[in-house]
Amino acid sequence: MRIAFDERNLMADMAGKENGLNAADLRAGAGLAKRALAGFRASWQKGLYGFPDLPDQSETIAAIRSYAKSVAGKFDTICVVGIGGSALGAWAIDCALRGMHPVQKEFSRKNPRLVILDNVDPSFVMGALKTMDPKRTLVVPIAKSGATAETVATLLIVTAWLESTLGRKARNHFAVVTSAGRGDLKQLAEQRKYPTFHLPENVGGRFSVLSAVGLLPAALTGADIRRLCSGASAMTKLCWLPDLRKNTALRAALCHHLLAARKSKSIQVAFPYSNRLWGSAFWFRQLWAESLGKRTDRNGTVVHAGQTPVAALGTTDQHSQVQLYMEGPNDKVFSFWAVRNQPDAGAIPKTPTGFEAMDYLCGQSLARLLDAERRSTEAALTENGRPNCTFTLDRVDEEHLGAFFQLMEFETAFAGEMLNINAFDQEGVELGKKFTFGLMGRKGFGDYKSRFTAYEAKRKTVKTV
Ligand code: PA5
Repeated sequence: MRIAFDERNLMADMAGKENGLNAADLRAGAGLAKRALAGFRASWQKGLYGFPDLPDQSETIAAIRSYAKSVAGKFDTICVVGIGGSALGAWAIDCALRGMHPVQKEFSRKNPRLVILDNVDPSFVMGALKTMDPKRTLVVPIAKSGATAETVATLLIVTAWLESTLGRKARNHFAVVTSAGRGDLKQLAEQRKYPTFHLPENVGGRFSVLSAVGLLPAALTGADIRRLCSGASAMTKLCWLPDLRKNTALRAALCHHLLAARKSKSIQVAFPYSNRLWGSAFWFRQLWAESLGKRTDRNGTVVHAGQTPVAALGTTDQHSQVQLYMEGPNDKVFSFWAVRNQPDAGAIPKTPTGFEAMDYLCGQSLARLLDAERRSTEAALTENGRPNCTFTLDRVDEEHLGAFFQLMEFETAFAGEMLNINAFDQEGVELGKKFTFGLMGRKGFGDYKSRFTAYEAKRKTVKTV
């Protein structure tokens, strides 16, 4: 497994003094990095945060594999019902290993597909159900809290849909992932005797891709979850190394921290040049945003911290976003994600057409063009004083994907330490959730309904043009 990190275009020598870092910045930041590593390590040792341990949970991995084996050949559709951290990891893995949806192999009981219901847009949910056969569908509700409104509402609909065809046999079409200690989904699963997998209490949704949250859907759709975890485990060891040169997660966290703090790069563009990593870009967007976007630091000082993550796809977004990236506000740092080896280079036929704009490409390959486009975009951004770095995965397979997830999670944890914030809570999303509970009539949320009513009343008094 090899994931290289090239940060040379983040340096002042390449991106210019105003926008790039110099070696002295990094040397001065080494102390901060050291403290970040020690701080996170101490919290992990106290058992506060469990994601570093996930790749080594051999019992869970064995239980998931054994369950997946026991149902193999029965279902052609694995329907995940979950949202946020309970959906994005499964999507990232599926997209990377089985391919983006228009190019996935035809699904069958031998090659089940993944359908992820992660939104309550009725046309999406009801439309998806029409494409699924209840007799051949396994539903996998995933919710750590067991109470997320979107997940619960969709689950109720999907359950009724299964029961209307299968009656009592519907209970054989569920496998649940939820917290071991709490929640109504846990109770429901126990009452109905659904097979259930737990995620550790000290692992939050966006750090849970290598728990049953990501591994169960992956195993059910044919991924080798042992290799996902062995890649992640190898990366974990590297992420604990104190030497900045050997610890990519720590070095990348420091670079991003310094660029945000000293060079006002308040946006990070995750820029995979790989359709198979496109799902991972959305997974990363949640990880970076929800972990680092915080109102206060650990001392209670209001800081409004966080670098806004944006996902862009190479080369597609060269023809959509890059104009802005080159010439618009210089408030971004770019993280390219490259893949060294493509399983199929996509040979361009050799036969010339006689047209100048076409013939120089003859005999080359799409892999070569993709690579040239990325390196050219990097060079052009650099010339324009736009700092950028590149993560290169040797290939997109289970091992590299697991390692990449772990690398990004460690980078996020270290970045949180450098900001002195709690990267593992998400208070900011709670108020909106509570308003929804109030509006939808959940017991105990009447106060939020009143607050919302007052807000609506105030809006009525506002005069615009
Ligand atoms: O990262 C997180 O903690 C969140 O994004 C959650 O994953 C998301 O809110 C869904 O929560 P739950 O798994 O409880 O349904």
